[in-house]
Amino acid sequence: MKRIHILLLLPMMIVACLNELSPAMPDEEETTLKKAVGHHFLIGTTLNNAIVNGRDPASDRVVKRHFNAITHGYAMKFAMLHPAEGRYLFDESDAFVRYGEQNGMTVIGHCLVWHKQLPDWVVRDKDGNLVTPEALKARMREHISTVVGRYRGRVKGWDVVNEAFLEDGSYRQSPYYEILGEEFIPLAFQYAHEADPDAELYYNDGNMAVTKRREAVVRLIGQLKARGLRIDAVGMQAHVSMNFPKVENFEKSIQAFADAGVKVMITEWDMTALPTTDTGSDGRPLTPEELDPYPEKMPDSASQAWNARMKQFFDLFVKYSDVVTRVTVWGVSDIDSWLNDFPFPGRTDYPLLFDREYQPKTFVREILGEE
Ligand code: G3I
Repeated sequence: MKRIHILLLLPMMIVACLNELSPAMPDEEETTLKKAVGHHFLIGTTLNNAIVNGRDPASDRVVKRHFNAITHGYAMKFAMLHPAEGRYLFDESDAFVRYGEQNGMTVIGHCLVWHKQLPDWVVRDKDGNLVTPEALKARMREHISTVVGRYRGRVKGWDVVNEAFLEDGSYRQSPYYEILGEEFIPLAFQYAHEADPDAELYYNDGNMAVTKRREAVVRLIGQLKARGLRIDAVGMQAHVSMNFPKVENFEKSIQAFADAGVKVMITEWDMTALPTTDTGSDGRPLTPEELDPYPEKMPDSASQAWNARMKQFFDLFVKYSDVVTRVTVWGVSDIDSWLNDFPFPGRTDYPLLFDREYQPKTFVREILGEE
């Protein structure tokens, strides 16, 4: 009798042991953004050093579960990578690229040419005068070829030039423009392509629903294409607010860039829930309470309005998913958003897909099928 019992138990014991040995199977039923929207476009977010280096496990969990594309908020900018002539600091950007590779994510490089965080040594001589066009071209080429070349085949695409146009469609009077004129943009695209012929190349800017800027970018696309230069997409940052821009004007820009023959990427999406000016519609200065109306939490009415408007933008991106190839939000949870201190420091904002408890906002739960 006893021998029969053991024989009956043996199969169950073997199964139990195998379960112990096999790695925990991913929860196939776990809802994730990248599964829910992956057939439309890449869904990305920005990382900071804390997430990359394992010092922010809560954000790290959200990134690995929900996102399949990453951009670093600052580590790949000129001042961070190349603070002095001949001196490169790659530790932070190397760690970022490794994070993406280790987690099977699409890595985006942001950004090669930008008027901000541009060290003086690049554009001014020891007397503080602007350097010659030849000197700047040599420094741009050296920076871009070194950085893009380092990550050749590892970074899928680069924000080659960021924020070169003003809202009236004119060129921003950056040192790049003052020294090289309009030529700095095609040169940047040329240098990037030379450094990694397979990398996608993007022009990136904010407030792209503004007619004159839209028209300037459409002209730029035509100029680059006419010179046989590679430009794959336009990055629309999409730092939007509760009352700007109109969704239909944002849509007009998507259509205009598509008609110009490029893809569109939503590269820095967030929506402030707070006032974007320090005066009211009557011109009266806003009080501190009006500037920071939700120090603890958003009231349901404001939260519902925020989710509804975010869903309008998301539905627009899905409508144009034949053109929109990536949607990146500019941060993981509300805690880490740059908007908590912009344009006024010390405010509590609610601009991202995940709240301060790292939980998906209402419209995100709808996308996940959890609502
Ligand atoms: O550099 C330190 C880093 O070493 C440290 O680990 C980290 C600790 O939190 O702080 C870093 O400091 C600053 C970082 O923000 C903190 O998040 C960086 O010095 C500072 O440059 C960085 O500011 C970034 C800003 O661009 C300027 O580069 C913001 O994160 C980033 O959200 C913002 O993003 C810009 C886009 O590039 C272009 N479009 C507008 C957007 C918002 O301004």
